[in-house]
Amino acid sequence: MTRPGRLRVENLNVFYGKNQVLKNISLVIPDNSITVIIGPSGCGKTTFLKSLNRLLEEQDGVRVEGKVILDDQDIYQEDIDVTAIRKRMGLLSQKPQVLPMSIYDNVAFGPKLLGIRKRKELDELVEKYLKMAGLWEEVRNRLAEPASRLSIGQQQRLCLARGLAVEPEVILGDEPTSALDPQSSRNVEKQLLNLKQNYTIVLVTHILRQARRLADYVAFLYFGELIEFGPASEVLISPRDPRTRAYITGEIS
Ligand SMILES: Nc1ncnc2c1ncn2[C@@H]1O[C@H](COP(=O)(O)OP(=O)(O)OP(=O)(O)O)[C@@H](O)[C@H]1O
Ligand SMILES: [Mg+2]
Repeated sequence: MTRPGRLRVENLNVFYGKNQVLKNISLVIPDNSITVIIGPSGCGKTTFLKSLNRLLEEQDGVRVEGKVILDDQDIYQEDIDVTAIRKRMGLLSQKPQVLPMSIYDNVAFGPKLLGIRKRKELDELVEKYLKMAGLWEEVRNRLAEPASRLSIGQQQRLCLARGLAVEPEVILGDEPTSALDPQSSRNVEKQLLNLKQNYTIVLVTHILRQARRLADYVAFLYFGELIEFGPASEVLISPRDPRTRAYITGEIS
C-alpha cells in the first residue's frame, strides 16, 4: 500500500537541448516518508530532484514538459511564485554550502528574511532548528564562530538546520552524505529518519546500503525512465523488473 502524497509528478519530460534525460515520469511521492531515488550515474536522478522545485530553469537549454503538483497546484504554471515554491521545498546538496557568516546567522538567515527581528525570538528559532538537525549540543557554546570552522559533517547538519528554519514541507537531498565520513553520514541519516514524521523527504543516493537503511519507498531510474517504484521492502528485496534486479545485485552499476 502506498500512502497518499501532496507532491505528484505527472508525465514529466526533461530535455537538455535535444537530449531527453527524463522520460514520461509519473509518480506520487508519499507524505511523511523517505522516498529514495536510485539508479546508475547519469540516469537523471539529480535532474529529477531539481525538477521538483524548479531549479532546472536556472540553466539554459533546459525544457520541462509535464506537471509537478504540490497540493493541487502545478508548480510549472506560468504565474506561480517560484521563490515561494522553493521555500516549501528545501534542497540539501552533495557538498554542504554554509553561508560565509556565523553559525547563528546561518540558521537565523531564513527567519530574518521572513521578517523576524526580535533577538529572543531568533535565539529560540536557532536553538530549535539546531536541535532538529542534531547539532545543538556540539555548537551551543560557539554560535558566534564562522560556520566554515565546523567539520564537513557538522556543516551539512548546519545546512539542514538552515533549510528547516524556513519551514519547508518537503526536504530534497541530492546525495547529502556523499562528502561526509561514515560517522557524520550516520548522524545526518539519523536526523532524516527523525524528521520524516513531519516532512516529505526525497533523497538521491547511489549507496544501496543507505537506501536500505533509510527508504520507505524506492524509485529506480534507468536511462531517464522510471522503471520501478514502490515500498522499499518490495523494490529492494523482490523487484519486479529484471533491470531493477540487475542494479540491486550489482550486475549493472
Ligand atoms: N546542464 C546540463 N546540460 C546538458 N546535459 C546535462 C546537464 N545536466 C545533466 N545533463 C545530462 O543529463 C543526464 C542526467 O544527468 P543527472 O545529473 O541528472 O544524472 P544523475 O543520475 O544525477 O548522475 P550521477 O549519479 O552521476 O549524479 C546525463 O546524461 C547528463 O550528462
Ligand atoms: Mg547526480
